[in-house]
Amino acid sequence: MGKILITGGAGYIASHTNVELIEAGYELVLLDNFCNSSMESVRRVEELTGKKVTFYEADLKDIDALRKVFEAEPEITGVIHFGALKAVGESVEKPLMYYENNITGSLNLYKVMGETGVKQLVFSSSATVYGDPASVPVKEDFPTQATNPYGQTKLMMEQILIDAAKALGWDVTILRYFNPVGAHDSGRIGEDPEYPNNLLPFVSQVAAGIREKVMVFGNDWDTPDGTGVRDYIHVVDLAKAHVKALAKLAEKGGVSIYNIGTGKGYSVLEMIEAFSKVCGHQIPYEFAPRRAGDIATVYGDPALASAELGWSAELGLDEMVASAWKWQSMNPKGYRG
Ligand code: NAD
Ligand code: WQD
Repeated sequence: MGKILITGGAGYIASHTNVELIEAGYELVLLDNFCNSSMESVRRVEELTGKKVTFYEADLKDIDALRKVFEAEPEITGVIHFGALKAVGESVEKPLMYYENNITGSLNLYKVMGETGVKQLVFSSSATVYGDPASVPVKEDFPTQATNPYGQTKLMMEQILIDAAKALGWDVTILRYFNPVGAHDSGRIGEDPEYPNNLLPFVSQVAAGIREKVMVFGNDWDTPDGTGVRDYIHVVDLAKAHVKALAKLAEKGGVSIYNIGTGKGYSVLEMIEAFSKVCGHQIPYEFAPRRAGDIATVYGDPALASAELGWSAELGLDEMVASAWKWQSMNPKGYRG
């Protein structure tokens, strides 16, 4: 088994994936520029697994820095490409920064893979590529559509990768994640946003008294309780999907695309109620206007990942919210102390 390069290796999803990969016997080379993370998550992955990882502080936008990493690590045989900016609202305000980071960063990575003969890659895509789907559950062959610059970058990164894979004979798996939530059951690694854009980290901070109340963006959606419905997936289940994807890459060959979700949708109010139950008090919330760009309902059909990767989500809503609350309670300041 060669070494696996993890771009964005200090981030939220990567840190959970790193634990699963190390436990499955992989040797990892991590790369990150810390634009949305810190070395502390890497340190804690080492502590949890009892294994040292090789780490490079490098920016994907700097192709020479990337070349140096590949030169120093000739045993790299595959890549998991997490490294990207991911905040939808920020991408609307700073589109050029998003295109430059996500597209230039990916182009550089693919170029250096081409130069060094590395031919296997697992790519972090997103359910955002389905836009506002005509029906649910969404399947992988549904039409794609981007509604913001972040989503555009994910679609472009997918397309560039598909074209490169066809031309260069690469084995590529594109994982389209739904809504990752929760944390490792040790409470040592988790999601650490300074200001949460997503629902669950915001609810956690309200539960902890850091913020006053949750603003529920719209109660007039065409859903059972009027609030938005999403396919929340436990980050540890998501991490395990990467282990399965990596194992199948060579065997399957070519380009594959999989939805990584539970296939079930929960509303904002159901999430707040589930969280209130685990933290032991009612989480205050207030209805607010719809957030620009939101949609009523999206959840995925994960049947293809089950059939071809042998992966399906095992953890339910209770485990998602309990692990998020444990992480929040044990690390009130995240990785900052
Ligand atoms: P994250 O911000 O925690 O992790 C991304 C990591 O990439 C960070 O550590 C960041 O510092 C690093 N990074 C960004 N640009 C870089 C660059 N130019 N050079 C080097 N490192 C760079 O985010 P995450 O939630 O762990 O997301 C990981 C991937 O999954 C991203 O590609 C994201 O788009 C995708 N994704 C996330 C979600 C979600 O809701 N969290 C959903 C679908 C897809
Ligand atoms: C979930 C629901 C909100 C916050 C985003 C990206 C997507 C993907 C995952 C990366 C919605 C409601 C939220 C709040 C609320 N990321 N909400 N109050 O929008 O489904 O997906 O993250 O690829 O691309 O768009 O996730 O957690 O922001 O929202 O009422 O304070 O919670 O309206 O219905 P979303 P989210």
